[in-house]
Amino acid sequence: MKAVVTSGVVAGRDLTVPGDKSISHRALLLSLVSNGNYRVFGLSSADDVMASYRLVEALGANIDAHEDGSITISAVGAEAKEPNNILDVGNSGTLIRLASGILSQMEGSTFFMTGDASIRRRPMARVTNPLRQMGAEIYGRQAGNLAPLAIVGRRLTPIEYRLPVASAQVKSAVIFAGLGADGATVVIEGEPTRSHTEEMLLAFGADLNIDKSDESNRISIRPSTLQARDIYVPGDPSSAAFFIALGLMTNTSMRVNGIYLGPQRDGFIKIFKGMGANLEIIADDNGNFDAISHTSQLSSIAIDGHDAAAFIDEVPIIATVAAICDGVSEFRGLGELRHKESDRIKTTLAMLKSFGIECGEYDDGLFVVGNSHTQSAVTRVVDAHFDHRIAMSASILTMVLGGRTEIEGFDSVSTSFPTFVELLESVGGGIEIVESDR
Ligand code: S3P
Repeated sequence: MKAVVTSGVVAGRDLTVPGDKSISHRALLLSLVSNGNYRVFGLSSADDVMASYRLVEALGANIDAHEDGSITISAVGAEAKEPNNILDVGNSGTLIRLASGILSQMEGSTFFMTGDASIRRRPMARVTNPLRQMGAEIYGRQAGNLAPLAIVGRRLTPIEYRLPVASAQVKSAVIFAGLGADGATVVIEGEPTRSHTEEMLLAFGADLNIDKSDESNRISIRPSTLQARDIYVPGDPSSAAFFIALGLMTNTSMRVNGIYLGPQRDGFIKIFKGMGANLEIIADDNGNFDAISHTSQLSSIAIDGHDAAAFIDEVPIIATVAAICDGVSEFRGLGELRHKESDRIKTTLAMLKSFGIECGEYDDGLFVVGNSHTQSAVTRVVDAHFDHRIAMSASILTMVLGGRTEIEGFDSVSTSFPTFVELLESVGGGIEIVESDR
């Protein structure tokens, strides 16, 4: 599906973004390893999260939706049933990788999982390798690297596993598998990654231990009886980033309320501040944050890949901001971008080039020449390659530069940010959805 995005006068607003996607996935998936009924407030209704919703229902979890938007889940724990069809993860890498860990330890059941064209291109060996080391029986194309995956649940053996890539998804898959292993499974991460899985498992009473040192985090998990607890999902910082960026680049202020800004999710805030952003972060009463961005005099940035897991999802919008400031920005050490919903080094560059911005590719990143865009108000055409963050970055850039942008693959936006269109319109954007031949 194609959208034509046009910009009006950008009006500053108070916005609320949907619940955090990473936390929403885990809130649902925990029903497969815990017992009891629990309520989830603020769950994201993004397509990716809905794929988790359907997956846990297919395994027997009962979900009741309430009028206030919250849900009550009856966890299935050891009673999870073998689904009678293929599980469809849609576009969600988080879901297929976390579920692989959970399903691998469901002894006696067989599962089939697949997803859309992007999922079927993304590397799964990063999870199937450690899970197989634990004794999991997993099949997939390219010797278990590509979905569709078939998983036969087994009693697993604990391993000590040092993550070869900084990945919360891989860490989480091994931790979840560790719930069904005979003894203590240990995951060591040299570079910290988001820790929602550990925090949420601890809240459910897991026998989990985190040992932090300067060199690494060492997480150990033992089989545990988990008691479900109510979950409050904060606003998604990765969604907020688009509107925070818009406030920085336009003659207005944007406020996004109630977002999660815990460790490894606040990297883009630090980077924006490093670029000279006039950005206020205010703690609220629930342990979350309001972010207020104001018009800023921005300068270029050099990123070397250090702590990349803390901002990897925000690179498309950071690169977009880099296009609207003085100087040349360098993004290095970000090879993981090639394994996201699209090859985000290529798709970010192609998106920026559609605006006439000078930019180029490295093996492990990109550079962007600030303020090098074409001035004329022509219609540009962007192919988002069904990558939500590319489609949204192109929309925000249109708001900044004016004119009209045709964005192919715009429907991908609902994979993470179902209210994006509504919010963009509320700040002055125009969006017309047009069907395309694809
Ligand atoms: C996620 C982890 C990150 C991130 C993804 C969500 C998660 O991926 O890019 O959007 O919820 O665990 P990796 O762990 O593969 O880097």
